[in-house]
Amino acid sequence: MRMYDLIYRKKTGGELDEDQIRAWIQGVTDGSVPPEQSSALLMAICWRGMSTAETLALTLAMRDSGARLDLSSVPGLKVDKHSTGGVGDKTTLILGPIVAACGVPCAMFSGRGLGHTGGTVDKFSAIPGLKVELAEAEFIRSLKETRFANSAQTAAIAPADRRLYALRDVTATVESIPLITASIMSKKLAGGAEALVLDVKCGSAAFMKSKEEAEALARSMVAVGKAHGMAIKALLTRMEEPLGWAIGNALEVMESVEILCGEHEDSVLAQLSFRLAAEMLVAGGGATSLAEGEAKVAGVIASGAALDTLKRFVALNGGDARALEDFTRLPQPIHEEVVTADRDGFVTAIDGRSLGLAAMELGAGRKDLSDPLDLGVGLRIHAPVGRFVKKNEPLLSVLSGGRFGPEPQTLASAFSLSPQAPPENPWLVGQIA
Ligand code: URA
Repeated sequence: MRMYDLIYRKKTGGELDEDQIRAWIQGVTDGSVPPEQSSALLMAICWRGMSTAETLALTLAMRDSGARLDLSSVPGLKVDKHSTGGVGDKTTLILGPIVAACGVPCAMFSGRGLGHTGGTVDKFSAIPGLKVELAEAEFIRSLKETRFANSAQTAAIAPADRRLYALRDVTATVESIPLITASIMSKKLAGGAEALVLDVKCGSAAFMKSKEEAEALARSMVAVGKAHGMAIKALLTRMEEPLGWAIGNALEVMESVEILCGEHEDSVLAQLSFRLAAEMLVAGGGATSLAEGEAKVAGVIASGAALDTLKRFVALNGGDARALEDFTRLPQPIHEEVVTADRDGFVTAIDGRSLGLAAMELGAGRKDLSDPLDLGVGLRIHAPVGRFVKKNEPLLSVLSGGRFGPEPQTLASAFSLSPQAPPENPWLVGQIA
């Protein structure tokens, strides 16, 4: 089989069969396919697309390019969640312990942050001592003892994806629905997920800007998951303003703990986390309906069982669980500067992307994967969308470690103020099952 023929076939609108796709991915993994040929095929896939059968074959070939976690010794359907990334999105820290406390094993792999969105691994790493990259035996022990495990993806999982992603990054071929689908789903399958809930974001601060694009990605991932026999559902959610009051790693741990303590229950962050958790319970067989799932979620928040699960997970994996009660044990910023409103008005919108980029400049995120993080810094939003503020009242605090370049008050421009209250704007814009 010649790579030239595969490239030509895809370029001219043909379909690749499973053997051809496997041969390509094998060559990517062992280095026998040169990057220029993979790049050409990636570009042809971007233009010509892939059928569900081709996307599934690519997903499975990428899954099989490296190690696969065997979670069969853990009873129950193992459930995971994937979010396409948002500013201030700390839902994993909240819903993982909730789902586990409801009795469903929650086996999650997460990423590090890059650009304006943060990564779950970085948020967990703000808890002193917590091991964020678990070996297989540690991951399984955590699942067995607390029903919750979260780890950074190890290099052994789906190595073909890492190589292809590096090529996609420099050849403008990231934005392709079959390639994104195979990249995400191959890692989830290799990680042992049997049930999956997707949170596909759309909006100005999301990867997918329009609802149509988000819906197409969700449909593609759900089709591949179902074709593989997975229990899978996608929610389409808005991502314009940051999720919650905290942007920055230790701050996001604090906010997650507050939500697990039953605070901020009307916030979009709490509602989204609770809904995703309820969907995970349904997908994982822990509830027979969404209403039952939601009741179970409310139960483990009220009883404190969800917070207790998070503490046990942290303690088991080397972390300081007391930091979840005494936030002074978490990394701290050095300076706080308050950004104020320049006039009276309702907050009608907050530009999540620009605040995400500001948090990155502060050191809460990375421009490059090798950048060091300052885990204590970030932004604290005082005036969420819908709040009326008077001139000179606080909009947000900039919590820095002394590395912030721009004048903090310039961040006031991320807040749109209007004499009229904003209309209700539901966070849930669709679902694909
Ligand atoms: N995240 C991934 O893991 N892969 C993609 O292709 C895009 C986002």
